[in-house]
Amino acid sequence: MIRQVFFGPLIQTNDKEELIIKESVAVFVDNGKITRILENSKDYEKDFKFEWKIRDEIKVLSHGQFMMPGFIDAHTHAVQFPNLGLGYNKCLLDWLEIYTFPLEKKYNDTEFAERVFEAVVKRTIKMGTTTACYFASLYADACTILAKKTAELGQRAFIGKVNMNIPRDDGYCESTLTSVVDTIGFIKSIEIIGNPLVKPIITPRFALSCDMELMQKLAEIAKTKDVHIQSHVSENKDEIIAVKQAFPHLPSYTAVYDAAGLLTNKTVLAHGVYLEDSELAILKERGTAVIHCPSSNTNLKSGLCDVQRLKANGIKVGLGTDASGAASYSMLNEMRSVLQVSNCLSLTRDNYTPLSYKDVFHMATLGSAKALAIDDKVGNLMIGKEFDALIVDMNVEGSLLDNFKEYTLEENFQRFIYAGDERNIVSVYIKGKQVK
Ligand code: GUN
Ligand code: FE
Repeated sequence: MIRQVFFGPLIQTNDKEELIIKESVAVFVDNGKITRILENSKDYEKDFKFEWKIRDEIKVLSHGQFMMPGFIDAHTHAVQFPNLGLGYNKCLLDWLEIYTFPLEKKYNDTEFAERVFEAVVKRTIKMGTTTACYFASLYADACTILAKKTAELGQRAFIGKVNMNIPRDDGYCESTLTSVVDTIGFIKSIEIIGNPLVKPIITPRFALSCDMELMQKLAEIAKTKDVHIQSHVSENKDEIIAVKQAFPHLPSYTAVYDAAGLLTNKTVLAHGVYLEDSELAILKERGTAVIHCPSSNTNLKSGLCDVQRLKANGIKVGLGTDASGAASYSMLNEMRSVLQVSNCLSLTRDNYTPLSYKDVFHMATLGSAKALAIDDKVGNLMIGKEFDALIVDMNVEGSLLDNFKEYTLEENFQRFIYAGDERNIVSVYIKGKQVK
């Protein structure tokens, strides 16, 4: 049994999406799980004498530091790391053809996969991402390499073997049989790794890369194996037109996935920029979440997603970087993109309340946890959950922020959200284990 205690300020959100700021708490962690939280110093004194002595790690935060839940990047592409910052003069479909697919084809070289994935997992952990929901590769061997990397480096992760059976001239596709067999084989390989932090996720790339037969088969696998599902939906206007052409008998993009049986309460769909009301109704009914990816949506000029509308319609909304649609794996940057997009929407619409820094913090933590249906385990630091946490230091040497005056805890938190960077994230814990 490994026993830890963390003592200092704590900032997080709750189920009502409220920001909870505690100036001083003691969080007790046993084998990675939070077993007790003490909220006032009188209690600590009582407990100091016996409880603290038997702890293997006692971490007392210093002035300027605070604890918060780790970031949950609910949609990102591990294979696209080498393309960060490239090709944003294009829109989605051309960007995929010219930049993304040619890069992704390289991952049948497992040595290349090994090199990139090691860098991706290290980078995302450094950025404070304690859970990542990855689109991995078309190639199952590469996917297993990513799963092993996350297990080895201690990151909580969903790993998706990308499925694409629509034939392409460049050969970046697979047969229906290979797609199914490799997906089942990949799920087995994760079972063999046997790390409870690492889970498979069924990943039909989007409705333009899979036919109905394959999508139905994938939905069946998800059901049999009780695993998550992820895809892209309604990201770009040309894409939506193409989906209507590919599935002329179905009324909407969302209806295509629904007809395949892909929409469950463990399904996350990235983007959802142009969803119609009828589509929102289906998603609500199925308990399917939308993952907002604002950096990618603006880089690729896909559109401005109205998160307030999704939330008002009872849709769970998580946050994802969608790198390399975004130019980095930083969830801090992604939160700022949410704010920028929301502020822009408020400028062009009457009676539009822009999202606040508290809202985006919720989206990046508990909101993403709820979207992925893992909020029984992570998303905030509560008794019974696992200790996935960041220690943020606003006095850190070499950070962009200098302190020329005293700040309150809430001010420091606000400065971190708007102006901090990964240098302010001095420690990262996943299930109690320090990974940075
Ligand atoms: N739609 C299908 N594939 C992709 C992808 O790799 N990135 C983004 N942003 N959208 C997609
Ligand atoms: Fe994506």
